[in-house]
Amino acid sequence: MTSITILVDNTLPPPWKAEHGLALAVRHGESLILFDTGSGAALLPNLRTAGIQIKDFTHLVISHGHYDHTGCLADILPDFRHTVYCAPGCTAPHWSHHPGVPPRNIAMTERDKNALENHPRKKEIARFTEIAPGVWLTGPIPRCSGEDTGGPFFRDRDGKIPDFIEDEQAMLLSDGTLIQGCCHAGIINTVCYCRKCAPHIPVKQIIGGLHLLHASPDRLQETAEFLKGVKITPLHCTGETAAKRLA
Ligand SMILES: [Fe+2]
Ligand SMILES: [Fe+2]
Repeated sequence: MTSITILVDNTLPPPWKAEHGLALAVRHGESLILFDTGSGAALLPNLRTAGIQIKDFTHLVISHGHYDHTGCLADILPDFRHTVYCAPGCTAPHWSHHPGVPPRNIAMTERDKNALENHPRKKEIARFTEIAPGVWLTGPIPRCSGEDTGGPFFRDRDGKIPDFIEDEQAMLLSDGTLIQGCCHAGIINTVCYCRKCAPHIPVKQIIGGLHLLHASPDRLQETAEFLKGVKITPLHCTGETAAKRLA
Protein backbone atom coordinates (compact mmCIF):
# COMPACT_ATOMS: atom_id res chain seq x y z
CA MET A 1 0.00 0.00 0.00
CA THR A 2 1.45 3.36 -1.07
CA SER A 3 0.46 6.85 0.02
CA ILE A 4 2.19 10.05 -1.04
CA THR A 5 1.93 13.46 0.64
CA ILE A 6 3.10 16.48 -1.34
CA LEU A 7 5.17 18.39 1.22
CA VAL A 8 6.65 21.03 -1.10
CA ASP A 9 5.59 22.14 -4.55
CA ASN A 10 5.57 25.36 -6.62
CA THR A 11 1.86 25.74 -5.99
CA LEU A 12 0.03 24.46 -2.92
CA PRO A 13 -3.14 25.86 -1.39
CA PRO A 14 -3.23 27.25 2.17
CA PRO A 15 -2.53 26.20 4.85
CA TRP A 16 0.43 24.68 2.97
CA LYS A 17 3.39 26.94 2.21
CA ALA A 18 4.32 26.96 -1.51
CA GLU A 19 7.80 27.53 -2.95
CA HIS A 20 9.75 26.65 -6.09
CA GLY A 21 10.88 23.13 -5.28
CA LEU A 22 9.76 19.62 -4.50
CA ALA A 23 9.50 17.35 -1.47
CA LEU A 24 7.31 14.29 -1.01
CA ALA A 25 6.58 11.96 1.89
CA VAL A 26 6.23 8.47 0.42
CA ARG A 27 4.78 5.72 2.59
CA HIS A 28 5.29 2.24 1.15
CA GLY A 29 4.86 -0.78 3.42
CA GLU A 30 6.84 -0.16 6.60
CA SER A 31 8.94 2.59 4.98
CA LEU A 32 8.32 6.34 5.17
CA ILE A 33 10.65 8.03 2.72
CA LEU A 34 11.38 11.74 2.49
CA PHE A 35 12.00 12.32 -1.22
CA ASP A 36 13.77 15.69 -1.64
CA THR A 37 13.57 18.68 0.68
CA GLY A 38 12.37 21.66 -1.42
CA SER A 39 14.18 25.02 -1.50
CA GLY A 40 14.39 25.37 2.26
CA ALA A 41 11.56 27.56 3.56
CA ALA A 42 8.48 25.34 3.13
CA LEU A 43 9.45 21.85 4.29
CA LEU A 44 9.49 22.35 8.05
CA PRO A 45 6.21 24.31 8.30
CA ASN A 46 4.52 21.87 5.91
CA LEU A 47 5.75 18.88 7.92
CA ARG A 48 4.06 20.46 10.95
CA THR A 49 0.86 20.86 8.89
CA ALA A 50 1.09 17.21 7.81
CA GLY A 51 1.74 16.06 11.38
CA ILE A 52 5.00 14.33 10.39
CA GLN A 53 8.30 14.70 12.24
CA ILE A 54 11.75 14.23 10.72
CA LYS A 55 12.36 11.33 13.10
CA ASP A 56 9.36 9.50 11.57
CA PHE A 57 11.18 9.06 8.23
CA THR A 58 13.03 5.79 7.66
CA HIS A 59 14.94 6.96 4.54
CA LEU A 60 15.91 10.25 2.91
CA VAL A 61 16.35 10.29 -0.86
CA ILE A 62 17.88 13.19 -2.79
CA SER A 63 16.80 13.09 -6.44
CA HIS A 64 19.63 15.39 -7.61
CA GLY A 65 21.84 18.20 -6.40
CA HIS A 66 19.82 21.28 -7.37
CA TYR A 67 19.05 23.81 -4.61
CA ASP A 68 15.29 23.40 -5.00
CA HIS A 69 15.49 19.71 -4.01
CA THR A 70 18.08 19.97 -1.25
CA GLY A 71 17.08 23.05 0.78
CA CYS A 72 17.27 22.73 4.57
CA LEU A 73 19.41 19.57 4.51
CA ALA A 74 21.62 21.40 7.02
CA ASP A 75 18.61 21.85 9.31
CA ILE A 76 17.38 18.27 9.24
CA LEU A 77 20.44 16.06 8.76
CA PRO A 78 21.94 16.55 12.25
CA ASP A 79 18.85 14.84 13.70
CA PHE A 80 18.46 12.24 10.94
CA ARG A 81 19.81 8.87 12.04
CA HIS A 82 18.96 6.80 8.96
CA THR A 83 20.60 6.55 5.54
CA VAL A 84 20.60 9.46 3.09
CA TYR A 85 20.67 8.33 -0.54
CA CYS A 86 21.96 10.37 -3.46
CA ALA A 87 23.58 9.60 -6.80
CA PRO A 88 27.29 10.22 -7.48
CA GLY A 89 27.97 13.85 -8.42
CA CYS A 90 25.08 15.21 -6.35
CA THR A 91 27.30 17.82 -4.70
CA ALA A 92 29.01 18.91 -7.96
CA PRO A 93 28.62 22.47 -9.30
CA HIS A 94 25.44 23.21 -11.26
CA TRP A 95 24.80 26.46 -13.18
CA SER A 96 22.01 27.65 -15.44
CA HIS A 97 22.55 30.12 -18.28
CA HIS A 98 19.34 31.66 -19.60
CA PRO A 99 19.61 34.27 -22.36
CA GLY A 100 19.54 37.86 -21.14
CA VAL A 101 20.12 37.10 -17.45
CA PRO A 102 23.37 36.52 -15.52
CA PRO A 103 24.51 32.92 -14.93
CA ARG A 104 22.83 31.44 -11.89
CA ASN A 105 24.27 29.02 -9.36
CA ILE A 106 21.59 26.34 -8.97
CA ALA A 107 23.63 23.83 -6.96
CA MET A 108 22.77 23.06 -3.35
CA THR A 109 24.01 25.70 -0.90
CA GLU A 110 27.45 25.26 0.68
CA ARG A 111 25.74 24.80 4.06
CA ASP A 112 23.54 21.99 2.76
CA LYS A 113 26.47 20.46 0.87
CA ASN A 114 28.60 20.34 4.03
CA ALA A 115 25.76 18.74 5.96
CA LEU A 116 25.29 16.07 3.29
CA GLU A 117 28.99 15.35 2.83
CA ASN A 118 29.50 15.00 6.57
CA HIS A 119 26.47 12.83 7.26
CA PRO A 120 27.69 9.51 8.66
CA ARG A 121 25.10 7.53 6.71
CA LYS A 122 25.32 9.14 3.26
CA LYS A 123 25.14 6.50 0.55
CA GLU A 124 25.74 7.04 -3.15
CA ILE A 125 23.61 4.93 -5.49
CA ALA A 126 25.60 4.12 -8.59
CA ARG A 127 23.24 1.50 -10.04
CA PHE A 128 19.60 0.35 -9.83
CA THR A 129 19.26 -0.65 -6.16
CA GLU A 130 16.53 -1.84 -3.79
CA ILE A 131 16.82 0.37 -0.68
CA ALA A 132 13.78 -1.01 1.19
CA PRO A 133 11.29 -3.80 0.46
CA GLY A 134 9.64 -2.83 -2.84
CA VAL A 135 11.52 0.50 -3.16
CA TRP A 136 14.19 0.93 -5.85
CA LEU A 137 16.43 3.86 -6.73
CA THR A 138 17.61 4.06 -10.31
CA GLY A 139 20.97 5.74 -9.68
CA PRO A 140 22.24 7.58 -12.80
CA ILE A 141 19.93 7.04 -15.77
CA PRO A 142 21.39 6.25 -19.22
CA ARG A 143 20.15 8.62 -21.94
CA CYS A 144 19.55 5.91 -24.50
CA SER A 145 16.19 6.67 -26.16
CA GLY A 146 17.31 9.68 -28.19
CA GLU A 147 14.91 11.87 -26.18
CA ASP A 148 15.79 15.57 -26.22
CA THR A 149 17.04 16.32 -22.68
CA GLY A 150 19.02 19.46 -23.47
CA GLY A 151 18.80 22.55 -21.32
CA PRO A 152 20.68 25.69 -20.32
CA PHE A 153 22.78 23.77 -17.79
CA PHE A 154 26.52 24.00 -17.24
CA ARG A 155 29.13 22.83 -14.74
CA ASP A 156 30.80 26.24 -14.69
CA ARG A 157 29.92 29.89 -14.37
CA ASP A 158 31.41 30.64 -17.80
CA GLY A 159 29.13 28.17 -19.55
CA LYS A 160 31.94 26.16 -21.15
CA ILE A 161 31.25 22.72 -19.67
CA PRO A 162 27.77 21.31 -20.37
CA ASP A 163 26.00 19.76 -17.40
CA PHE A 164 23.95 16.67 -18.20
CA ILE A 165 22.84 16.45 -14.55
CA GLU A 166 23.87 12.81 -14.40
CA ASP A 167 23.28 12.88 -10.65
CA GLU A 168 19.50 12.73 -11.21
CA GLN A 169 17.83 9.51 -10.03
CA ALA A 170 14.20 8.38 -9.77
CA MET A 171 12.44 6.07 -7.32
CA LEU A 172 10.33 3.09 -8.39
CA LEU A 173 7.86 1.30 -6.10
CA SER A 174 6.70 -2.29 -6.47
CA ASP A 175 3.13 -1.16 -7.29
CA GLY A 176 4.38 0.62 -10.44
CA THR A 177 4.62 4.14 -8.99
CA LEU A 178 7.55 6.12 -10.42
CA ILE A 179 8.64 9.19 -8.46
CA GLN A 180 10.60 12.02 -10.09
CA GLY A 181 12.51 15.04 -8.83
CA CYS A 182 13.07 17.17 -11.95
CA CYS A 183 13.49 14.32 -14.46
CA HIS A 184 16.46 15.98 -16.17
CA ALA A 185 17.29 12.52 -17.56
CA GLY A 186 14.03 12.62 -19.53
CA ILE A 187 10.91 10.65 -18.67
CA ILE A 188 11.19 8.36 -21.71
CA ASN A 189 14.78 7.47 -20.80
CA THR A 190 13.76 6.93 -17.18
CA VAL A 191 10.81 4.65 -17.92
CA CYS A 192 12.91 2.66 -20.46
CA TYR A 193 15.62 2.19 -17.83
CA CYS A 194 13.10 1.04 -15.22
CA ARG A 195 11.64 -1.44 -17.73
CA LYS A 196 15.13 -2.80 -18.37
CA CYS A 197 16.13 -3.07 -14.68
CA ALA A 198 12.74 -4.15 -13.28
CA PRO A 199 10.82 -5.76 -16.17
CA HIS A 200 8.38 -7.32 -13.66
CA ILE A 201 7.13 -3.86 -12.57
CA PRO A 202 5.11 -2.03 -15.23
CA VAL A 203 5.12 1.73 -14.60
CA LYS A 204 1.47 2.59 -13.89
CA GLN A 205 1.71 6.08 -12.43
CA ILE A 206 4.25 8.89 -12.36
CA ILE A 207 4.38 11.69 -9.81
CA GLY A 208 6.83 14.60 -9.63
CA GLY A 209 8.60 17.16 -11.77
CA LEU A 210 8.97 16.24 -15.45
CA HIS A 211 10.97 19.28 -16.60
CA LEU A 212 8.98 19.87 -19.78
CA LEU A 213 8.70 23.63 -19.21
CA HIS A 214 10.57 24.49 -22.42
CA ALA A 215 9.80 21.29 -24.37
CA SER A 216 9.07 21.68 -28.07
CA PRO A 217 5.62 20.64 -29.37
CA ASP A 218 7.31 17.61 -31.00
CA ARG A 219 8.87 16.51 -27.72
CA LEU A 220 5.56 16.95 -25.90
CA GLN A 221 3.77 14.92 -28.54
CA GLU A 222 6.35 12.13 -28.36
CA THR A 223 6.21 12.13 -24.54
CA ALA A 224 2.41 12.10 -24.43
CA GLU A 225 2.27 9.16 -26.84
CA PHE A 226 4.92 7.25 -24.92
CA LEU A 227 3.06 7.74 -21.63
CA LYS A 228 -0.39 6.75 -22.92
CA GLY A 229 -2.22 4.74 -20.25
CA VAL A 230 0.07 5.92 -17.42
CA LYS A 231 -1.53 8.08 -14.72
CA ILE A 232 0.46 11.32 -14.36
CA THR A 233 0.54 13.68 -11.40
CA PRO A 234 2.67 16.52 -12.80
CA LEU A 235 4.34 18.71 -10.19
CA HIS A 236 7.07 21.32 -9.81
CA CYS A 237 8.93 21.90 -13.12
CA THR A 238 6.59 20.02 -15.46
CA GLY A 239 5.19 23.27 -16.93
CA GLU A 240 1.56 24.23 -17.38
CA THR A 241 1.40 23.53 -21.12
CA ALA A 242 2.99 20.11 -20.70
CA ALA A 243 0.74 19.24 -17.75
CA LYS A 244 -2.34 20.05 -19.85
CA ARG A 245 -1.00 18.10 -22.83
CA LEU A 246 -0.20 15.04 -20.69
CA ALA A 247 -3.62 15.20 -19.04
FE1 LIG B 1 13.70 21.29 -9.64
FE1 LIG C 1 16.57 20.27 -11.22
